[in-house]
This record gives sequence, C-alpha cells and structure tokens, in this order.
Amino acid sequence: MSEITYKVINNNEVAKIAEIFGDYIIQFNCFHFGEGCLSLVAYDNDVPVGIISTYPLGYPRPLEHLKDAYIDVLEVDERYRKQGIARGMITRTEKWAKDNGYRQIRSWSSEDKNEAIPMWYALDYCMCPAKIWVEWCEKIVDGFYVAKKL
Ligand SMILES: CC(C)(COP(=O)(O)OP(=O)(O)OC[C@H]1O[C@@H](n2cnc3c(N)ncnc32)[C@H](O)[C@@H]1OP(=O)(O)O)[C@@H](O)C(=O)NCCC(=O)NCCS
Repeated sequence: MSEITYKVINNNEVAKIAEIFGDYIIQFNCFHFGEGCLSLVAYDNDVPVGIISTYPLGYPRPLEHLKDAYIDVLEVDERYRKQGIARGMITRTEKWAKDNGYRQIRSWSSEDKNEAIPMWYALDYCMCPAKIWVEWCEKIVDGFYVAKKL
C-alpha cells in the first residue's frame, strides 16, 4: 500500500467522492461545510479511500447554549479496511475539534455496525447502548451513542 494522505475537502469535491462511496452521501447531506464543520478524506494517491465529516450538534434543554463536535459520516473503502485509516481520520478530527474549542466529540452507530462498534471502543470512546428514532426509515433502531472528552 502506498502512503495514505488526509485532506480537508470543500463542497466542490463531494460529487467525485460520491462516485466511489455512493450517492447516499449527497442524498443524506453527509458532508458538512462552514463554521464548526470538518470534512476530511483519506486518499491513496488521487483515489478517495476514507471519508469522515463532523458538524456542531447542540444539546437539548437545559444545555441548549452548548455544542459538541458530532461525527455524522465515517466510512473506509472495503479494500482498505483494518489498516488504520479510520484511526487516522478520527485522531485528526479529534485534534481539530479540540483546537477549535470543542469540549467533547460524539457519534452514534447502529448495532449492525459490527466493525464500527469495536472500533469506537478500541479508540477509547465511552459507549452507551441506546435506541434512537431514525427519521428516514421511520423506525426505532438499537445502537450505541459514543463520546470522548477532548
Ligand atoms: C468502521 C470502519 C470505518 C473502520 O475503518 P478501518 O480503517 O478499517 O479501521 P482501523 O483500521 O483504523 O481500525 C481502528 C481500530 O478499530 C478496531 N477495528 C476496526 N475494524 C474492526 C473489525 N472489523 N473488527 C474488530 N475491530 C475492528 C480495531 O481495534 C482497530 O485497531 P487495530 O487495527 O490496531 O486493532 C470500517 O470498517 C467501515 O467503513 N465500516 C463500514 C461503515 C461503518 O460502519 N461506518 C461507521 C458508521 S458509524
């Protein structure tokens, strides 16, 4: 494997990345840009092999004045898994979040994410089993909220 590089992307690059990772990233607005957001892509030469995007997510009352960094999308191309690419994207995102004043970073994975759930645990995230209402499939889904203090 050649060396993997990590690059912050902008909106113009999303269509090219969707050609590899699928239209879902456009359909569900998975990439976030603008204040408090980071969209990062791992490349093998010019080929995108990993994606991660993070945005500011508020708390409900009585903490409605606060926001965490929320990882909305995370995926590594199947052919590149188990080589440390998710770890590379997440540690860079954590550093960016801390440098940008976030106190905590969090995410959520459904229970069918057999690779992601052990990964969060291995990367020292706090694990909280939880059910959430998923808007697009109109179902309650079991999974884990994960969070790390920065
Ligand atoms: C989850 C996913 C992003 C992990 O990407 P990856 O680049 O393979 O992960 P890494 O190689 O950086 O692994 C980091 C650590 O996570 C754990 N891990 C990763 N894949 C794992 C697996 N299949 N089984 C068990 N643990 C795993 C390991 O502890 C690993 O550290 P180690 O290699 O030093 O043991 C990738 O499997 C993926 O894209 N899955 C499908 C999409 C998905 O589930 N996205 C997350 C939705 S929230």
